[in-house]
Amino acid sequence: MQKVLTIQGGKPLKGTVHVRGAKNLVPKAMVAALLGDGPSVLRNVPEIKDVEVVTSLLTLHGVQVTKDPVSGDLTLDPSGAKTASAREIDAHAGDSRIPILLCGPLMHTIGEAFIPDLGGCRIGDRPIDFHLDALRQFGAVVDKVDGGISISARKGLRGTKLELEYPSVGATEQVLLTAVKADGITELKNAAVEPEILDLIAILQKMGALITVQTDRVIRIEGVKRLGGFNHRALPDRNEGASWASAALATKGDIYVQGADQQDLTSFLNTYRKIGGDFEVDDDGIRFFHPGGKLNPLVVETDVHPGFMTDWQQPLVVALTQSEGVSIVHETVYENRFGFTDALVRMGATIQLHRECLGAVPCRFGQRNFLHSAVITGPSKLHGVDFVIPDLRGGFSHIIAALAAEGVSNASGIDIISRGYEHFMDKLQGLGADVTLS
Ligand code: EPZ
Repeated sequence: MQKVLTIQGGKPLKGTVHVRGAKNLVPKAMVAALLGDGPSVLRNVPEIKDVEVVTSLLTLHGVQVTKDPVSGDLTLDPSGAKTASAREIDAHAGDSRIPILLCGPLMHTIGEAFIPDLGGCRIGDRPIDFHLDALRQFGAVVDKVDGGISISARKGLRGTKLELEYPSVGATEQVLLTAVKADGITELKNAAVEPEILDLIAILQKMGALITVQTDRVIRIEGVKRLGGFNHRALPDRNEGASWASAALATKGDIYVQGADQQDLTSFLNTYRKIGGDFEVDDDGIRFFHPGGKLNPLVVETDVHPGFMTDWQQPLVVALTQSEGVSIVHETVYENRFGFTDALVRMGATIQLHRECLGAVPCRFGQRNFLHSAVITGPSKLHGVDFVIPDLRGGFSHIIAALAAEGVSNASGIDIISRGYEHFMDKLQGLGADVTLS
């Protein structure tokens, strides 16, 4: 029986939340452990669904994953790595996109890999063409089979020169996890340089990899014969930090995000201040609060790092429904990331979607029939409605809106939230939210 979250809105969120390791780094760090010839230790690991899914996928492939009952630190021992059947991989992968990143490490350990049809948030088509092109260039053989794709490298993998059509995070991770033990040098142009990518590079370097990041999105990797284990503390989850910051603004609240790091949030903090939010940085975290007074309308364009991140736009849109005037959000990373606005409009927000690139930067989706720009007119009085959680960030934004709204809302499909937000209910109640799960 699906659980329903009942939210009584109208109370500002106040208090402290503790943010741990990044959902968009920790699973990739766990996969990297497969490349080592000794055990690895990963610290600052959040209790989220994605970690459980990767734990079961790695266990399926013979990796021993042990969790410290107190700290939650993971020890990953790849010495028993083995093949797994397509059917088993499919059963364990669930809704995760991680299986695609197992390719490089599995080909280096057991010479083959299988990718089931992938899941992940429904925020766009999310093709994997960049990944498959890259693997072919390393010399892998890619075959379409029932229920997925089989990849093999009987003759081994060799370094190569690649240029990504778009600085994809996943494709850059794919190249890193494959090139570190490939024969020779790999040069990747137009690479992603998100903080999570740099943290993965730090992990691989601890294992013995030779990687150089040049300023103009060029990453150079010299393949090595063997890698050892790592001991690493995962960087904090900047997306969770930004989500709670938006919650503080939309509910006129005051939230101290312990663990948030200013360096990873520079463009977010600039935008936050421009809207009229305020923040205070100290050594252990960042306090985000609504200083009172009016919020300003703004033009926000999402982009790859160091631009304004796409995972920040959905929670921030709720705050923009409270701004005095017309705001524009141009989503340039995913072609279909405004589906969540339907429920906000039912709550009383004024949001119109457009196919044009309503921003300074024309993007890949212009003139292509995608509703990827939003015009938000505020301030709007929000009222409670019932809704189904559409995806991770869209779901968080719906819950913020329900907390900022007058009256009662009922949210179903709440499980998605635990894919990326640790101890969500405890945190909401700790911030004074009037919520019940039944
Ligand atoms: C990662 O997804 C994150 N997920 C996403 O966070 C994040 O939004 C995204 O990077 C961008 O920062 C994880 O790390 C698990 P991409 P990823 O490859 O790697 C296109 C969240 O809410 N593309 O950088 O899948 C693609 O369709 C999630 O935490 C191709 O066309 O993103 C998209 O338009 C959502 N072909 C763009 O590139 C490819 O082969 C960016 O995708 C690969 C990507």
